[in-house]
Amino acid sequence: MFVKKTLEDVSVNGKTVLVRTDFNVPIKDGKVADAYRIKQALPTIKYLLEHEAKPILISHLGRPEGRFNSDFSLHPVAQVLERMLGVKVEFAKDCIGKPVEAALTKLAPGGVVLCENLRFHPEEEENSESFAKLLAKGADLFVQDGFGVVHRKHASTDAITRVLPSVAGFLLKREVDTITDVMANPKRPLMAIIGGAKIADKLDLIKRFIEISDIVAIGGAMGNTFLSAQGLFIGDSLVASNDLPLARDILRLADQEAKKRRFVFVLPRDAVVAEKIESNAKTRIVDFSTHVVAEIENYPRRVPHGAISIAKHERILDIGPFSGSFIAGAMQQVSTVVWNGTMGVTEVSSLIDASGPFAHGTELIVDALLGQFGYRPFSLVGGGDTVGYIESRGLIDQFDHVSTGGGASLELMAGRKLPGVEALEDK
Ligand code: 3PG
Repeated sequence: MFVKKTLEDVSVNGKTVLVRTDFNVPIKDGKVADAYRIKQALPTIKYLLEHEAKPILISHLGRPEGRFNSDFSLHPVAQVLERMLGVKVEFAKDCIGKPVEAALTKLAPGGVVLCENLRFHPEEEENSESFAKLLAKGADLFVQDGFGVVHRKHASTDAITRVLPSVAGFLLKREVDTITDVMANPKRPLMAIIGGAKIADKLDLIKRFIEISDIVAIGGAMGNTFLSAQGLFIGDSLVASNDLPLARDILRLADQEAKKRRFVFVLPRDAVVAEKIESNAKTRIVDFSTHVVAEIENYPRRVPHGAISIAKHERILDIGPFSGSFIAGAMQQVSTVVWNGTMGVTEVSSLIDASGPFAHGTELIVDALLGQFGYRPFSLVGGGDTVGYIESRGLIDQFDHVSTGGGASLELMAGRKLPGVEALEDK
């Protein structure tokens, strides 16, 4: 249960409210390329407007290293926000001082102020209290709604809470409630599907899921590292060599867990390989484990060795159909699925397509999660590449919970405290 005060626990009527959002969205050619985070921030902003409060929105965008840089301006967000809210958004060219005062003076009733990138000031990441005081100037209340950034201890997540009364917004509450609930009290069986590049980045997450879930399935580039740690020749596939000892540790841990109780750790058993990451690259399926695909392809002849092994210049770019079907089949038997990380290469925009050569594995997971094979488990989805993929497929609203947080959701799932939540007032 969420133990922090929220917007609904305090009076906001007529107040000037400083709202920390996470509008750290991808910008392409000066335009917002993915508005999911902005959309998720709307309920809090609308609530404030309905209660005749004046919202001042603050956020960071990217990592501009404490200096003004127009590539990291939040101005494109103001345009999207205006369209989504249907009210005037006054853009302040700085997040402190005269530009904010001027925007507030200009602000028509029912409008909102959006301030320029907090990280144009080094004091933001230094968690400076004097900077927090400047941010707070003219505000009566602070609302933390930037779930994606509450794992950082910055001026707008920590120091600010010592300057203004501070409560949670609706997005923050929903994210923390849903994720903590799934981790602490999941409807079982629980399955975790984990992909992405580096094991080190998701080490705690994998370990926690080995402890608490019934099935852990691995895909993406980290799958290569596990396969390599098991001794499989993976050709030119991306592999995090530094992660090999970690992979061995995790394999041992998973083995021990499977001896204690009914637990399954699933690694890819076949893969889609190609020599290049291009949409017209020549691909083939290598079934290095069960040889089913190779047997079908070669029937009634014997399977040649090349059909079941990855060649020197080939790279694994997706899980194969056998692995995808295995995971999708397992999903028909579980009540909850936590999915973080795509199964293959999906982040190259020209390749994001259900029929793209390296998206089949990921697409199969999407189909299974959305009930295409008959049963629909509860789905909790997170991670930048995963959310980007389902957003690009126009499917984001169909999942039960799609987290706006990357690092923050990983930390929360791994059982760590989030400084930006801890600092808020208790109920
Ligand atoms: C994110 O995108 O994960 C958040 O906005 C945090 O950004 P950061 O990793 O640059 O702090």
